[in-house]
Amino acid sequence: MARKKDADRSVREKPAYQPGTEAEGPTRAVVIVPVLTRQPRGDEDTNRPRLMRSAEARHDEAVGLAQAIDLDPIHTAVVTVNDPRPATLLGSGKVAEFAEIVKEGRAELVIVDHPLTPVQQRNLEKELNAKVLDRTGLILEIFGERARTKEGTLQVDLAHLNYQKGRLVRSWTHLERQRGGAGFLGGPGETQIESDRRVLQDKINKLKHELETVRRTRDLHRAKRKKVPFPVVAIVGYTNAGKSTLFNRLTGAEVLAEDMLFATLDPTLRRVRLPHGTPVILSDTVGFISDLPTHLIAAFRATLEEVVEADLVIHLRDISDPDTAAQAEDVERILADLSVDAGDSKRVIEVWNKIDRLDEGNRARLLADGIDGNKAPPIAISAATGEGIDVLKAIMETRVSGELETLTVTLKPDQLGFVDWLYRNGDVVTRTDNDDGGITVSLKATRSAHEEIETRLHRKNNG
Ligand code: GTP
Repeated sequence: MARKKDADRSVREKPAYQPGTEAEGPTRAVVIVPVLTRQPRGDEDTNRPRLMRSAEARHDEAVGLAQAIDLDPIHTAVVTVNDPRPATLLGSGKVAEFAEIVKEGRAELVIVDHPLTPVQQRNLEKELNAKVLDRTGLILEIFGERARTKEGTLQVDLAHLNYQKGRLVRSWTHLERQRGGAGFLGGPGETQIESDRRVLQDKINKLKHELETVRRTRDLHRAKRKKVPFPVVAIVGYTNAGKSTLFNRLTGAEVLAEDMLFATLDPTLRRVRLPHGTPVILSDTVGFISDLPTHLIAAFRATLEEVVEADLVIHLRDISDPDTAAQAEDVERILADLSVDAGDSKRVIEVWNKIDRLDEGNRARLLADGIDGNKAPPIAISAATGEGIDVLKAIMETRVSGELETLTVTLKPDQLGFVDWLYRNGDVVTRTDNDDGGITVSLKATRSAHEEIETRLHRKNNG
């Protein structure tokens, strides 16, 4: 889908400005998506050329991110930048144009969907006469609102403070909120900033200490869990891929699944039994997003340890999203940062979600031909309707417990109470009634089920 470059798009017409009402309702924001014509040539590590995300996808995502913290995007624009300016990123003509839009629309905040240097941020704030947030700042704001556990909150606070420390300008809400805020326009003077820096460093040290304590407790929990060695299956994917929906579908839990970016920030863990009884711990993790700054990944590393240590990683993709290929690449890059090789087909399985959103023709083509030279036959599901979930569960089970093996079990009359268990944990192929009143059952079951049968019958025989 081609978009005319530089096409400014008003999301919605706003009612005429009423003096005195700007303090009420959501913050009015202008969202700018700079598209640089000269992009970095490839991934420094792999030298792979990076898939360019379409301007349209970037635009929609940036608006989605802004709405994720209840901003009201009164004006959005995709802007081609041929010659990025060190002082303002955008050219002076564009800056003047946006200053006018900000003024006219009474916008209080400008989102620039690109990393800004502290200098660029400060200059843009002066010229636009509004608070400016870059992509990292925006993501931090969202994370701040979403964190639920103590560890999540501490991690976000720490990442936030580190981000602020590198800037001579204050972040949008953080300090103002803490000081009971008199609005975020009008930055502090240099001296104030210097003392802010000291305060920030003190806070950073304190937070690091607190985080350490929380992590020690969590490590203890994990060590305890390891004593009962259930395999861990982690679901990862781009934000909004449907991870929480799949998690709920597999566990019957009620984890928040919303059309809201980053609804899940802290890992959620739950025990699940797969069709042949294999118990696994399923973990739902934070959604990934492109250009997640390295220090943010580092901040969430502890949370993402579930992924690093997982026995099986499900990479869930929203296959109905036109940007799915670039999203998958972003996820793979982040996995690589966590030392998880997405190409390791023993450990990582790619699952295509939202197939209910494809029309018949598209779906058939996709399943037959795959996309982007996909190697393994795709596992296609709809977490929403449940289609394909049984196949996915069976594959998960094979991956964690190996292929099913056939076993013949003879139960004495006093062991018949165990029949039920066999049916629940295996595929019973034949069943014969014996003369002594017992039965002989031949069944296909996982290796761990075999072991459990041996233990139980042995214990029964001995006891
Ligand atoms: P983050 O927390 O942002 O990482 O999102 P997530 O990956 O956990 O996605 P979530 O489960 O919250 O789903 C995002 C949206 O997609 C919700 O509106 C879901 O109802 C919807 N959704 C999830 N799976 C499917 C699906 O199979 N089909 C359709 N049509 N919608 C789906």
